[in-house]
Amino acid sequence: MYFETEPKSRKEDFFNYDYEYNQVKKALQRKEKIIAVVGVRRVGKTSLLNMIYNETKDLKLWLDGRIVDDPKQEVFAAIYEAAKARKPKIFGKIESLNISAFGLGFDVKLGGESRAEIERKIGNAGRICVFIDEAQRMKVKDLGDVLSYFYDRFPQLSFLISGSEIGMVEEILGESDSEHPLYGREIVKVVMNRLDRNGAMEYLKRGFGQLGMEVSDEEIMNAIGELDGLIGWLTLYGYERGVKKSKDALEKTSKSAARIAATELVHFLQGVKNRRLYLSIMKNAAGRNWEELRTYVGKEMGKPLNPNLFNYALGRLVDYSFVEKRDQKYHLSDPLLAKAVFLV
Ligand SMILES: Nc1ncnc2c1ncn2[C@@H]1O[C@H](COP(=O)(O)OP(=O)(O)OP(=O)(O)O)[C@@H](O)[C@H]1O
Ligand SMILES: [Mg+2]
Repeated sequence: MYFETEPKSRKEDFFNYDYEYNQVKKALQRKEKIIAVVGVRRVGKTSLLNMIYNETKDLKLWLDGRIVDDPKQEVFAAIYEAAKARKPKIFGKIESLNISAFGLGFDVKLGGESRAEIERKIGNAGRICVFIDEAQRMKVKDLGDVLSYFYDRFPQLSFLISGSEIGMVEEILGESDSEHPLYGREIVKVVMNRLDRNGAMEYLKRGFGQLGMEVSDEEIMNAIGELDGLIGWLTLYGYERGVKKSKDALEKTSKSAARIAATELVHFLQGVKNRRLYLSIMKNAAGRNWEELRTYVGKEMGKPLNPNLFNYALGRLVDYSFVEKRDQKYHLSDPLLAKAVFLV
């Protein structure tokens, strides 16, 4: 059923995204060493990884980046555990909307064996697929080191990593940084995008169809107008409207989605110096080009803006996928962010 709010783990509950799914499957068949699934939050990354995890016949392990304190120790130890046991292992809980597993850590230790002995065991275990969800929550620099170490020494390992903030994933993968440990190594990047209007329409119709409900096109269009094509929000709406049968399903969904979006924004703003500037860019990113946007933001800030400073802030908002550039114009990547800006 489509309108369940947990990440999906079966192909029949997972709508579309065949292209992305096949890209990952083929990359695994080719035994690519690093496959990265990237996309904005709630687009379906965990669901895609879940399904592929379930279908993978090789020795495999699942790591939730939110509970890894020290990637250098823990990722290594987790792989060693799986290699020793020759059995699949899951570290961390596969997330659902309100569960937070921050900082729990997990208890795997590298007994008394020497590094050489451990490496020999990992090397002898054959092919291992390591799934890392929420990779950007780990210490990204350390994770980059770990990945490059395994990349060079254990060609039979594949890492499938996913992360929500595109900028962070680029930090892990080091795409444009020649000093980065992974620089120059082959990485397969699979980008998940939101559904277009037709896709969103089809998704909602089929989802309501599974529940034996008929919902008017007008109502569905209205919901898509408000929520856009992010499958996570559409699922939440379908759940409210179709399963819980709430009267004001759309309003409820858009409120809780805005709250979730606001939480992410708060997290991001904690790391910036000029919070007002960032918020002003977001408030004004309504289909304007660079120059127009700078003028509007300058007016709101009450002073002309240094172009470099403005450009840097705008670039970071794009990197972290709060803002998108389409046809030379800047837009919020998710219409709910317009509400979120006023909640932070
Ligand atoms: N292709 C799909 N078909 C049906 N439902 C989906 C699909 N992709 C995602 N969903 C639903 O959308 C919501 C978000 O999915 P998921 O948790 O996989 O996204 P995510 O990108 O990992 O999000 P986050 O960045 O918050 O971790 C869930 O309710 C999930 O059930
Ligand atoms: Mg996820």
